[in-house]
Amino acid sequence: MSDARLVLVTSTYETLRSRLQSAFDTLEVGADPVLRTSERGDYQANGVMALAKRLGRSPREVAEIVVDAVDLTDVATVEIAGPGFLNLTVQPVFLDAQLRNLSHDPRLGLAPVAEALRVIIDYSAPNVAKEMHVGHLRSTVIGDALARMYRFGGHQVIARNHVGDWGTNFGMLIEHLLDVGDEGAASTLSIGDLDEFYRAARVKFDSDDAFKGRSRTRVVALQSGDPETLRLWHVLVNQSIAYFSEVYRKLDVTLTAQDVVGESYYNDKLADVVRDLDAIGLLVESEGALCVFPEGFQNREGEPLPLIVQKSDDGFGYAASDLAALRDRVDILKGDELLYVVGAPQVQHLEMVFAVARMAGWLPDRVRCEQVVFGNVLGTDHKMFKSRAGETVKLVSLVDEAVERAFVILDERGTDLDGDAKYLLAEQIARAAIKYADLSTERQHDYVFDLDRMIAFEGDTGPYLQYAHARLRSIFRRSGDEWQAGNAHFALEATAERNLALGLLGLPEAFFTSLGALQPHRLCTYLFDLAQRFTSFYDACPVLSSEGALREERLALCDLTARTLKLGLGVLGIDAPEQM
Ligand code: ARG
Repeated sequence: MSDARLVLVTSTYETLRSRLQSAFDTLEVGADPVLRTSERGDYQANGVMALAKRLGRSPREVAEIVVDAVDLTDVATVEIAGPGFLNLTVQPVFLDAQLRNLSHDPRLGLAPVAEALRVIIDYSAPNVAKEMHVGHLRSTVIGDALARMYRFGGHQVIARNHVGDWGTNFGMLIEHLLDVGDEGAASTLSIGDLDEFYRAARVKFDSDDAFKGRSRTRVVALQSGDPETLRLWHVLVNQSIAYFSEVYRKLDVTLTAQDVVGESYYNDKLADVVRDLDAIGLLVESEGALCVFPEGFQNREGEPLPLIVQKSDDGFGYAASDLAALRDRVDILKGDELLYVVGAPQVQHLEMVFAVARMAGWLPDRVRCEQVVFGNVLGTDHKMFKSRAGETVKLVSLVDEAVERAFVILDERGTDLDGDAKYLLAEQIARAAIKYADLSTERQHDYVFDLDRMIAFEGDTGPYLQYAHARLRSIFRRSGDEWQAGNAHFALEATAERNLALGLLGLPEAFFTSLGALQPHRLCTYLFDLAQRFTSFYDACPVLSSEGALREERLALCDLTARTLKLGLGVLGIDAPEQM
């Protein structure tokens, strides 16, 4: 490979933006050019109107000043449209140079950030001795996509799987464990019948007074650190973690057992939380519980809402461990960003935790702290997703069903693969279907879990994008020669070629806006749009049957498209198989 590989490609968007910025700066330093990709021109800057308003001048006049001042030689031509939009058309020489740089760049123009942030991402967080259900799906899938995107962007990610592994339930769970014997329990738990284990414990607790009494005594033993009780508790925790790890493997999620830092981890830090809140005078006793009343939170009756830090029975709750976890993430882990990928029902809880942490001075302004909220998964009847019997659906059964479905589809379509290779492909398709359906919906919205739609090879689906990639790879298998990237010149004479090229140059912008807004669906939209640009190109422009420089150019466009799809899907946590 040539040295061009070492050139750090400045994205087309960045090039245009910085040139415009210099021109805007002559009128007002730092005025935002508001550059977007546009339908009409290639890019459009809409910042003139706001600037003109601030300067009290006419937009047209301001637009003309910007156009006179901007240096876009060899990059783009610019035209004023409407009240003061700037339409930019990228020049052929520049497109050619950018695409040639991309061909050599394994990161396809997506340079890592200059300054890495430490980003703590709290996601997945299932509960010990309870099944992972569809509610944990979104946290796991969205959280993992963000973790991968941050890592690829050049940041340092610390994943925190804040599993629910403490609380009064553990009294009854441990007593039930003793009844069935740790070995029997270990096998039920590891095959994933966690709900059955939990249900059986609950039934006894509710119907058997002696069992209830033993359970209560056991809670006290657990809290006071009795060694045998802790050993039994560890059996439950370890079995559950082994089970969660198996689910993560099935979903191809990067979380490991080392990322599990459950609620119990903070036990010895809870007393400090209470002591320190008390020392700053924030703690109020209310009905026997120790609370903080953060400003701006009210119940339906308009009364101030407490965040309960220590309950009237002296036990600490969910809020206390979240406060301790937050301090740990700021003080010990030195996080620049704290993200909580947690569903909408916990908005108020987390807002109150953040508010209390700010009041206590534990959450400095320089730390970005945000809940990455998401909506519900609905059934095809548009109600909360449930099994036909009305029960919550296990996450593993969803994945297993999708794998089976992928198998059927592969058989219907015909495949050369068999054995392990076929199974692996079915798993890849199934994961793509599930993850992409989740990630491509704006995360605040609910979405319908409709496997037929999600797994289809047509439409805005994961398998469609995988298929587009595999089809591209097959062009190279059929090309009959050892094709090598880096020799093409991009004349881009056909409109469809030019549109595809512009799409290819849009990756860095799509990636960073998606990550900046913590909205993976924007990257999905970009990839789907790129696949469509490719389809139009492929319909209009013969590849293998064209000759010479044109064939070289078109193969290079195919290669870049395939690599862009693979990279984009990859940072979302979706595989792009070579063949489908
Ligand atoms: N275990 C909780 C649940 O299943 C989610 C925990 C979310 N993270 C947190 N830091 N509160 O609902």
